[in-house]
Amino acid sequence: MKNMAIVLAAGQGKRMKSKQYKVLHPVCGIPMVSHVVDAVRLAACERVVVVVGHGAEAVQATLGDSAEYTIQAEQLGTAHAVLQAKHLLAAEEGITVVIAGDTPLVSSDTLQALIALHQREGASATVLTATMPDPTGYGRVVRGADGAVLRVVEHKDCTPDDAAITEINTATYCFDNRKLFEALGHVTNDNAQGEYYLPDVIGILQRQGDLVSAYQLADPAEATGVNDRMALGEAERLMRRRINAAHQANGVTLIDAENTYIETGVTIGSDTVVYPGTILRGRTSIGSDCIIGPSADLTDTIVGSGSTIRQSVCDGAELSDECNVGPFAYLRPGTKLGRHVKVGDFVELKNASVGDNSKVPHLSYIGDAIVGSGVNVGCGVITANYDGYNKFVTEIGNNVFVGSNVNLIAPVKIGSGAFIVAGSTITHNVDENALAIARVRQENKAGYADKIRARARSKKEKNPDNTKS
Ligand code: UD1
Ligand code: MG
Repeated sequence: MKNMAIVLAAGQGKRMKSKQYKVLHPVCGIPMVSHVVDAVRLAACERVVVVVGHGAEAVQATLGDSAEYTIQAEQLGTAHAVLQAKHLLAAEEGITVVIAGDTPLVSSDTLQALIALHQREGASATVLTATMPDPTGYGRVVRGADGAVLRVVEHKDCTPDDAAITEINTATYCFDNRKLFEALGHVTNDNAQGEYYLPDVIGILQRQGDLVSAYQLADPAEATGVNDRMALGEAERLMRRRINAAHQANGVTLIDAENTYIETGVTIGSDTVVYPGTILRGRTSIGSDCIIGPSADLTDTIVGSGSTIRQSVCDGAELSDECNVGPFAYLRPGTKLGRHVKVGDFVELKNASVGDNSKVPHLSYIGDAIVGSGVNVGCGVITANYDGYNKFVTEIGNNVFVGSNVNLIAPVKIGSGAFIVAGSTITHNVDENALAIARVRQENKAGYADKIRARARSKKEKNPDNTKS
């Protein structure tokens, strides 16, 4: 006996009006179909077969070897889609979960409960149902006077009585594997859409005397099927709530959870406070006791404990503990900050490591650089790392003082303990503990300011229009 799953993901998703295949649209950063495959895997389904058609290659590339695949060349309906898994699964004994690739919110807990009920009742089929305030568009679950499930009727085939039913088919089911493939042989396409409907299997089994059971979701939101952008937005909102609640349960403070956007897979330590407008994406991992935001945008970034990042963008950066970043900093891929590093306003770092206790407080570009510890990088310092063809490295030793508005023309090395005078353009290496000055000497001309003004005034009198642009 085995638990298996079939995930239906061959449709184009016309109602999305998109170049992207429907099941690949992300919900909280992860394609819908990946959420579904993760859920069935977590619910202990050993074999997972994904039915692909439209965008087959893209779907397979997204899911990789986390699943087996079968192709539905022509989309003749959900029953026809399941039949495409026949050659892979028909010989198996056990339970098969069938789930649509466009229902990303169905949780592994729910799937486990569905399987448990199915086993407990010894059913041939168990439908996951939900009561929707507005059931428009969904298949309706028709029950008999005794409450037994009789069949599922698609929205387009509903009589007015059927249409009034608010209990809907979520498109997630549990089947006895053998009975499923047997019953599929009896499904016809004699309906409003001329399609082979999988939900017809429910009526077929019921009519042949098999036990059909139903597991009703307590929270109908979990059943949201994404057929258009409105539902996609709704799924995003619901998934966001679920993710944020999990972080809150782990001891993270979200100042405004409705306006905090955390993708699946992000980790956050306890007692970290996240302010609104913050977006945490990809494989971002944040330590404990941090302050993140408002409006921090972090992708694949690792943040040590006790760090603060305000109004900044970080992409592929690594920060050790107690760093202080922003407001308005931009940390690009390859940025590595040691402990207790300050990166202030309007500073951009790229492919640059900065050692412990160093500071880059304002208006700098540091790219392709190795900066030691205890370094002070003055306001307006830039590394000139690019000649239009090649990138060059700047190395700054420990405890260097780089004065304001210094240009470091790479490749260049500044020895530890050196002092670079403000306004210098450094083109040659600087020895340890040396002072480097590379700027034109100042000259003051007494009384010359009046002369300059007089000259300008007379020019203006000759041509009064020359201030107009
Ligand atoms: C389906 C159910 C409906 C249920 C609803 C819940 C059917 C006929 N109807 O309707 O009872 O209330 O889901 O969300 O099953 N697919 C294929 N091949 C096909 C057709 C569809 O792989 O030939 C896939 C789609 O990619 C999609 C899933 O099956 O992921 C469901 O298809 P969709 O067209 O979205 O069905 P709904 O109209 O939502
Ligand atoms: Mg759908």
